[in-house]
Amino acid sequence: MKKTFLILIAAVNFLIMGCQNGNKQEAATETKKDTAISNPTLIANANDFKDSLDGKAISLVYLTNKSGVQVAITNYGARLISLIVPDKNGKLTDVIVGSDKMVEFKSGKEGYFGAVVGRYANRIGHASFVLDGKKYSLAANNGPNSLHGGLKGFASVVWTINSQNDSSVQLSYASKDGEEGYPGNLTAKVRYTLSSSNELKIDYEATTDKKTVVNLTNHSYFNLNGQGSGSILQHTLQLNADHYTPVDSTLIPTGNIDAVAGTPFDFTKPTVIGSRIGEDNIQLKYGKGYDQNFVLNPSKNGELNFAARVTGDQSGIVMEVYTKEPGIQFYTGNFMQGAHTIKGGKKDDYRTAFCLETQHYPDSPNKPKFPSTILEPGKTYATSTVYKFSK
Ligand code: GLA
Repeated sequence: MKKTFLILIAAVNFLIMGCQNGNKQEAATETKKDTAISNPTLIANANDFKDSLDGKAISLVYLTNKSGVQVAITNYGARLISLIVPDKNGKLTDVIVGSDKMVEFKSGKEGYFGAVVGRYANRIGHASFVLDGKKYSLAANNGPNSLHGGLKGFASVVWTINSQNDSSVQLSYASKDGEEGYPGNLTAKVRYTLSSSNELKIDYEATTDKKTVVNLTNHSYFNLNGQGSGSILQHTLQLNADHYTPVDSTLIPTGNIDAVAGTPFDFTKPTVIGSRIGEDNIQLKYGKGYDQNFVLNPSKNGELNFAARVTGDQSGIVMEVYTKEPGIQFYTGNFMQGAHTIKGGKKDDYRTAFCLETQHYPDSPNKPKFPSTILEPGKTYATSTVYKFSK
């Protein structure tokens, strides 16, 4: 009896000590997180994301590395909210354009700042496609076409945070069969990882229980001179693309794959973004500037492929993009109209950001010659993109 009692006391003590250690470890992690955010005035504030939507809690998480790069990500649309990197003089610079307050996202019409867009990024012509003889109709939310997943795409839903530490966060979203018109229950997973060499890697994964189409991207708006610092037209861009997919007047690819040589779409050598944007070119007219998909020159091994290099003319900040995707949408913020309040109370003025959205080509479900975007049950959609920063 006495022996059992002693064993019981020992067990209780062991449990109490375990809990205390656990608490200590938690406290240590908390302290580390607090001190890691060394520039709280520059990075988005977690309190501005304490909210909920459709009964799901919204929050903000931080990634940091030893070189001073700091990233803020919210599970609302799996969005990149802040990305702070040093410029050529060591000045910490936030290169992500958009709001840093949940309240703005809730009231805004432009849903894509920093977001993961899906189930199908970019456009599907006439808001419909046919799969195995069955026609699927989507919401026409961009003229006659469907854009970025429809009325309530992946950018406008609350994702679940599955796991998180100082360098990585994984989020998931379960999209129901028939949601926004797409077939199949689709589970999408996105992992953001910040490396010690200033790369932000985004790994995407998806599985389905019915044949469907998938095309995921990140729709961050960048200004490498710093968000809110004015036009991006003096940035320099290089694209690893000898071809692009020209579009019709509603920005749906014609199906042709044209050479960029001799056109304002030739960025094979570093070129100032604004140097040809005003040229008398029908594609630039349709896009109101650059808003086309570039066909990336294939990589030798099918792994992460160099896609783009951009340099901020004032900051000297260089962003390189690597991807496993076959295409990249280069968009110069032609639809930005100062209609939204962004960080620091500023407005999202015309062409004050650019996007480089790695992707499969727009309207692939209706273009049998384009690389396929079909996902079958039992298969896993898996792709990755890296944004690497240097100065
Ligand atoms: C993509 C599209 C553009 C525009 C933006 C969001 O880049 O190609 O036409 O819709 O998204 O405004």
